[in-house]
Amino acid sequence: MSSHQEEANNKVPVTFSKALSREVVIDCVIETIMRMMLLSAGATAGQLMLSESGRLRVLARAESKPDIAVAFGAAIQGAPFVSTITQAVARSGHAVTLDTAAEAAQMFASPEPCNPLPSSVFCLPLLIKHRLVAVLYLENDHTEKAFPADKRAPIELLASQMALAIENACLSQILHDEDRQRYVTERQSSDLQFELTQASRITAIGELVSSIIHEMSQPLSAIDASSGAALRWLQRDAPDVDEATVSLEKVRTCTVRAKAIIDRLRELNRQSQIPFKSFDINAAVREVILVSRARIDKLGVNIAYEDASVEHPVFGNRVQVQQVIENLIANALEAMADTTDRARVIQISSAHSDSGVVISVSDSGPGIAPGWEDSVFRPFTTTKPQAMGMGLSICKRIVEAHGGTMWIEKIDPHGLRFSFTLEAT
Ligand SMILES: Nc1ncnc2c1ncn2[C@@H]1O[C@H](COP(=O)(O)OP(=O)(O)OP(=O)(O)O)[C@@H](O)[C@H]1O
Ligand SMILES: [Mg+2]
Repeated sequence: MSSHQEEANNKVPVTFSKALSREVVIDCVIETIMRMMLLSAGATAGQLMLSESGRLRVLARAESKPDIAVAFGAAIQGAPFVSTITQAVARSGHAVTLDTAAEAAQMFASPEPCNPLPSSVFCLPLLIKHRLVAVLYLENDHTEKAFPADKRAPIELLASQMALAIENACLSQILHDEDRQRYVTERQSSDLQFELTQASRITAIGELVSSIIHEMSQPLSAIDASSGAALRWLQRDAPDVDEATVSLEKVRTCTVRAKAIIDRLRELNRQSQIPFKSFDINAAVREVILVSRARIDKLGVNIAYEDASVEHPVFGNRVQVQQVIENLIANALEAMADTTDRARVIQISSAHSDSGVVISVSDSGPGIAPGWEDSVFRPFTTTKPQAMGMGLSICKRIVEAHGGTMWIEKIDPHGLRFSFTLEAT
């Protein structure tokens, strides 16, 4: 592998994870997954299938020739072979790796003439809590053993995040389609533009929840206005029952609509239960450092991880906790980008305390302005021109969903320390 390719691969999980966590439009999610997966795996083609009522539907194919092109709703050539592999992966719930065309032929074993079989295949299920959401198929048509374990591992690590992103985007699409008409008629175009931009950025369930709460205000104000109108029609000297009935019909329509929004929210919440189990926080931190390594090295940051060799079992969702650590490292790196008069250092530690295990990420950057300690955890709070200001609010919500707390401390004379607790097991 060239060093250029190696560097690209190192960057992919972090960039990808970040990009994916901010996408909610289904086509953008699909495109992000296909591009990043082809790039990080060095695949020549790929296909993404959605699991719908036990069947697989093709979402898109991607080919690198040499620029990556994504075609929505189209299958790659050699469809019978791809279909055999993806069905097998969907049925078993386990990934399949084929290292040669001969292995592919053995697995395919079709009496029908077919296109030349690929030299390497990696096909994996995208699951949420053992439930199949989608299947990702990658192939390389000219290199054998193109998907060794070190290329597969980061992709497998991201599988559940991809599944969540696809599912959230599908739900969001339904929500968005249904509400689009109402938005168009009821809002000024500048408001609409703002809302659509916001909606397309809303990712995590919490943000989706906020947008649903926001939507609730529409039917509620309509109910307010229509019921007021009905009362006025009825309180006239000559009450107009017909007009009052029309207003009350509007009240009923809006009530049904508000109830539907609540039902969807309940369904969304039910589907997004994240599995918690015991895992070693130190191993999880080491993995995040590994995927952040290219950015750490690029900035010449010295990263120290205390207690790295000791096992600290904690209870929670490994991927979400890794998301928190990744965000804190990203913030520390961004904060130290302009630090030139002292060493750029990130220090991570994990230690037992009365409240469980405390994980801390410190840096030697400029710190924050006095009075900002609480604000940084609020959504859309940022000092960076291109950023959303969502990272820390998402982190805090994840930690609190784990029953933990998150806090911030200034380090004298320079830097900031973010700490959070997790339940020890
Ligand atoms: N380690 C740090 N040192 C100094 N300031 C920080 C640090 N971490 C966060 N901040 C401040 O807190 C703000 C909010 O951080 P947060 O991660 O929520 O958003 P962001 O990094 O600006 O954007 P995003 O994470 O959405 O890309 C940052 O813009 C920055 O001003
Ligand atoms: Mg951030």
